[in-house]
Amino acid sequence: MIEPATRLQTVQEYYFSRKLKEVALLKEAGKPIINLGIGSPDLEPPQKALDGLVGSLQLAEANKYQSYIGLPELREAMAKFYNDHYQVGLSPKTEILPLMGSKEGIMHISLAFLNPGDEVLIPNPGYPTYSSVTNLVGAIPKFYDLTEENNWQPNLRELENSDLSKVKLMWINYPHMPTGAVASNKNFEDIIAFAKRHNILVVNDNPYSFILNDYPRSILKYPGAKEVCLELNSISKTFNMAGWRVGMVAGNADYISHVLKVKSNMDSGMFYGIQKGAVEALKSSKLWFVSLNSVYEQRRNLVWKMADALNCTYDKNAVGLFVWAKLPQGIDSDSFIDNILKEKSIFITPGHIFGSNGEGYIRFSLCGGTEDLEEALARLR
Ligand SMILES: Cc1ncc(COP(=O)(O)O)c(C=O)c1O
Repeated sequence: MIEPATRLQTVQEYYFSRKLKEVALLKEAGKPIINLGIGSPDLEPPQKALDGLVGSLQLAEANKYQSYIGLPELREAMAKFYNDHYQVGLSPKTEILPLMGSKEGIMHISLAFLNPGDEVLIPNPGYPTYSSVTNLVGAIPKFYDLTEENNWQPNLRELENSDLSKVKLMWINYPHMPTGAVASNKNFEDIIAFAKRHNILVVNDNPYSFILNDYPRSILKYPGAKEVCLELNSISKTFNMAGWRVGMVAGNADYISHVLKVKSNMDSGMFYGIQKGAVEALKSSKLWFVSLNSVYEQRRNLVWKMADALNCTYDKNAVGLFVWAKLPQGIDSDSFIDNILKEKSIFITPGHIFGSNGEGYIRFSLCGGTEDLEEALARLR
């Protein structure tokens, strides 16, 4: 047997990869499973995006390798999207790079900026990929606490009392997954000032800003941000196009060129039709967001009722694609969700998979249809 690289010892099979096999077995055994675990949007993408893809399929051009930096019109559409929705000016030539989803950007940025032994500030709770990628590139995760008492914001003063001399990069993710917390103008300004004081690259992972959120914000809007920040964004949740794999990284031209150095050695451009579809999606009017959010609002009301039925508490001001609910005191999230899976055939994500500060919470996805949610509510009641 040939041994895998030692770096593989730093990561485990993703929780959902493991748990969804168990859920699938229950389904095969005839259990009427309702899956409120994962955040894969079930609603339709904009029709124009589908037309853009289909309309490109007969073009000979579509079958060739595509540019490493994406079609000019895709970069222009992304820059215009940032201008229209976040009031952030970006050069489509140098300050934006299309990605195959924002998730790959986490690896590309880490490969572009981290040396083995560098430390990386990672939110706890937070998206598990930040720490697994950090480990894979030989850097060291330094988790920072987010707590309900602190509105799930980093305690910068506390961080400054620790040794930050080896920290090169900090992941933030506002609106935050899994908690749905938003960062205020002041929160972003404070983080940028902190990054400047300690010469840290801050990356805001921003795929949720249009879901149930009245004030979409980009960190790049704040003075001085382009000196120390990058931002990842995505059409996965905004336009129900998670399987298309289109995201972007935006920021300072020099930083973007470092990311491109990695990425251009890893893939050979994104399929032409997908880029054409993404361009059309990005051009959607504000009405798109209104109708998308009216569906999520209805669903969230039902999920809130489910959380009530389970004696959980939650923040009605939270945004994004999930409801983050606190369990009654002293109950551990794994046995709680396993019990509901067994007794009620409803799959909900336990909070601990996002880090130790997620213990005592559960996360409901809003990617289930109204009928399923009504059925789930009836079962819980
Ligand atoms: C916080 C966060 N970042 C990034 C991603 C990746 O999104 P995508 O690669 O589809 O753009 C997700 C997906 O669930 C996420 O929750």
